[in-house]
Amino acid sequence: MPATRRQFLGLTAAAGLSLLTGCSGRGPSAAGPSTAGALRLTAAPMRVDLAGHAVPTWGYGTVPGPEIRLRAGETLRVQLANELPEDTTVHWHGLTPPNGMDGVPGITQDPVAPGEGFSYEFETPVAGSFMYHAHVGMQLDRGLYGPLVVEPRTEELAYDSEYTLMLDDWRDGLDDHAGHGAESSAGHGAEDRAGDDPDPVDAVSFGGRSYPLLLVNGRPPEDAPVLTARPGDRLRLRVMNIAADTGFRFAVAGHRLTVTHADGMPVEPVTVDALRLGMGERYDVLVDAAQPGGVWQVGVQPEGRGGWGRALLRYTGSEASTAPAVAERPAELDGRLVSYEQLVAREPLPLPAGAPDRSYDLTLSGTQIGGQSYPDADPLVVSDGDWVRFTMRNTSAKWHPMHLHGHHFQVLTASGRGPVKDTVTVPSRGGEVTFDFLATNPGRWLFHCHNHHHMEDGMLRLVEYE
Ligand code: C2O
Ligand code: CU
Repeated sequence: MPATRRQFLGLTAAAGLSLLTGCSGRGPSAAGPSTAGALRLTAAPMRVDLAGHAVPTWGYGTVPGPEIRLRAGETLRVQLANELPEDTTVHWHGLTPPNGMDGVPGITQDPVAPGEGFSYEFETPVAGSFMYHAHVGMQLDRGLYGPLVVEPRTEELAYDSEYTLMLDDWRDGLDDHAGHGAESSAGHGAEDRAGDDPDPVDAVSFGGRSYPLLLVNGRPPEDAPVLTARPGDRLRLRVMNIAADTGFRFAVAGHRLTVTHADGMPVEPVTVDALRLGMGERYDVLVDAAQPGGVWQVGVQPEGRGGWGRALLRYTGSEASTAPAVAERPAELDGRLVSYEQLVAREPLPLPAGAPDRSYDLTLSGTQIGGQSYPDADPLVVSDGDWVRFTMRNTSAKWHPMHLHGHHFQVLTASGRGPVKDTVTVPSRGGEVTFDFLATNPGRWLFHCHNHHHMEDGMLRLVEYE
């Protein structure tokens, strides 16, 4: 492994983010290893620096929260402290913990009241790029999220350095951000009801509410995070969409992306120009720094709405002053996009021969799944050991990224070895996606749209073991 690749740092706070925060004025992290060997995560009101404006919000000390890193087979130990004025929990997005550690209030645990805490502790056998976030109302939308990387016991990929990039939409720009959580969890009126129609027929739209700012690692385009590379370096990027209401396209000007993992799970490498990420989705890509130098736009384009997010790829020795303008759009954004159909799982699920034990056909319409809205919805019942198939057909005008807790599923593609994921985007107006999973993790699990407004409006079903 190349010498500059960061050594494994164990379960320490901010390990990965330190790569990016060297050039920011961010304050110290609220998290740090405690004497008991647990990481402490404190959810609290805070201010986030958005291009020189100190905006009040809620977070885990920084936005994103500290990157949690551990190695496959280790035990995640996180002590959550709630210093918010309302209940909270932490959900481990993409991990498959025992049900009681999944962080869903009222379903898998009691909500953690203000001033209280909760200890999360479970083994993480599977490597990958994951996220953690609050799972109460719209708390995630304020900044209560962070990256979680489980490194494999032996890394097969060779690369020189790696960066985690969390893409977010920020609702209220620079004014009065503190008010928005209350407003959005209290009920979303006209904008939501209208949310299902106004786009032209061909537009890709995941949401439609007003989110004037797009952030990469908590930073607006004027204060973009900088990835550095020497000519010839190979970078690994872990790109994660944690936005509440925005799907993104992602590309690096002058460079191509070799996709190696979808939602943290390995795929046969495929080289594309751009990624499309629904909310909750992640891709790991390798980028060869094959240009002689310069500063290149890492473009983050919201689907179906205006504005830009970005990072910068800067070759060592190149002047920061040659950075492209904020709105300079990488042509690669219009190139070949990653699709599930071209992805082939390197470690497919061990599905038996024959037919699934249970199949559910679930039409997505408005914010209903299979004609029902939570809480007035029947559980989707499975039995321990079942091979379960969900087929989703989206008749609405929005693209819906559907996320299953507690399990990985395999997307059904022509190859028969589609990518293993935990979140899958179903295109609007007749789009269809089918996935299979093995019911091997008993409990009550959420299956929901990762547009958090849709989820709050009831786009959620429980998967229950009988
Ligand atoms: Cu990332 Cu139930 O969510
Ligand atoms: Cu949705």
